[in-house]
Amino acid sequence: MTKIVTTVAELRTALAQLKPARIGMVPTMGALHDGHVSLVTEARKHADHVVVSIFVNPTQFAPGEDFDAYPRTLDADLKKLGDGAAIVFTPTAREMYPEGFATTVTVGGPSKGLESDFRPHFFAGVATVVAELLIAALPDIAVFGEKDYQQLLVIKRLVHDLGLPVQIIGAPTLREADGLALSSRNAYLSIDERRIAASLNLILKDAIAAARGGGNLRAAEAAAIEALWKAGFSHVDYVAIRDAETLDHITALERPARILAAVKIGKTRLIDNMAIA
Ligand code: PAJ
Repeated sequence: MTKIVTTVAELRTALAQLKPARIGMVPTMGALHDGHVSLVTEARKHADHVVVSIFVNPTQFAPGEDFDAYPRTLDADLKKLGDGAAIVFTPTAREMYPEGFATTVTVGGPSKGLESDFRPHFFAGVATVVAELLIAALPDIAVFGEKDYQQLLVIKRLVHDLGLPVQIIGAPTLREADGLALSSRNAYLSIDERRIAASLNLILKDAIAAARGGGNLRAAEAAAIEALWKAGFSHVDYVAIRDAETLDHITALERPARILAAVKIGKTRLIDNMAIA
């Protein structure tokens, strides 16, 4: 039976009852899909019990973004988790941000550029809430998806720099049969938009082939951007081939690299990324 707790105090009491077992954590914003469930499955490989947090974190949304519209589907989420999670932590905004809350965790390094160029508030909101969640639960391991690759690197940096005693594990992106990465935001897509969305992954694969074929990396990015516009995306925020560990700019595939992209279809913003070498 999954235990549902809404305060940090209840969470700690519930966790104390499970100790000394190994605890894994999977932070989410809910609207759970099979990608989230795959993180829980991964966490169970490394831990005896898993805590899933479900919290639509207001500080990582800018005014005008989809905080209000973000799907909140707790009953369906609990069904989706089945007995995969021992504890589900669903705090209120007041619990995570009590009256007078005045702390922001800012990570440099991998936060710079890419998502930050378009969502400058985003990683401070993520780092602050993830620090709070990890400190609340103090799990042995926590699993995050490569789907949000820059976020994964930012969280690794945060945990390393603050010396939080938690091992961060990255898990591969789960995709639909046509290659579209599962995302809670896919629910916003119309049938036509959903068809266009599927081309994102294919275009990134073409760019990887061009880069691996010895092509100029900037030319591969530019060709992908052009192909995305042609496929019907209403905006291309970026397509970037970067060092997979640091997200630094690179001009050749000498070390593991990653292609990362963000696009918009109508009002929906989608991100994806893949390993290159
Ligand atoms: P959310 O978008 O709900 O994602 C929760 C976790 O699921 C993240 O680690 C994300 O990378 C992972 N995920 C999303 N889609 C996936 C897919 N298709 N395959 C595998 N994993 C996938 O990311 C957040 O929430 C928030 O920023 C959070 C870290 C919870 C902080 O608020």
